[in-house]
Amino acid sequence: MRARVVYESMFGSTREVARALGLGLAETMDVDVLEVGSLAATPDGNHLPMGLDLLVVGGPTHAFGMTRASTRADAATGAPRPLVTQGVGIREWLDRLVLPHGGIACATFDTKVEHPNLPGSAAKAAARRMRGLGGHLVLPPHTFTVQGKSDGLVDGQLDAARAWGRSLGSALTPVG
Ligand SMILES: Cc1cc2nc3c(=O)[nH]c(=O)nc-3n(C[C@H](O)[C@H](O)[C@H](O)COP(=O)(O)O)c2cc1C
Repeated sequence: MRARVVYESMFGSTREVARALGLGLAETMDVDVLEVGSLAATPDGNHLPMGLDLLVVGGPTHAFGMTRASTRADAATGAPRPLVTQGVGIREWLDRLVLPHGGIACATFDTKVEHPNLPGSAAKAAARRMRGLGGHLVLPPHTFTVQGKSDGLVDGQLDAARAWGRSLGSALTPVG
């Protein structure tokens, strides 16, 4: 079985989550973990590899949903270091993504600030988009929390991400 994790990240927290859940998935599947801006810039960036069994997509929640060019520009202003995602975000990548006939098993995740608990979720928005493209959600969209815009993950979130990745792998792996 083969999985691909595609992530977007400004300050690095969503990348950490993506890598951790990739480790959880790798307990039962072959996995690659790719940054969306770099992936989208490749010639095959809008297509999935043949034989892929699971696509996992995640990014930071900006302005109650997936990032836009304007919110990424806001993030870049006064950022402590260059942004991880320099090219397009998951919104633009999903706009161009071509799924195989019959769709594909998929899952979505995001990062959000823990306090205040704001409405809206990039993971839920990405899930709606994936369903519209013909994706079949394996588990509900999942949110991981950060301490502030660029202050890193809340304690325990990497363990939670690894466990979620493991659950995704189990949901797809035939038993017996
Ligand atoms: C422009 C901008 C808008 C944001 N809007 C929201 C929001 O609506 N809800 C929320 O919970 N967090 C919001 N955040 C916080 C981000 O979710 C947080 O920066 C992100 O999870 C950190 O992940 P990253 O390090 O991978 O970029 C916003 C951050 C920025 C920069």
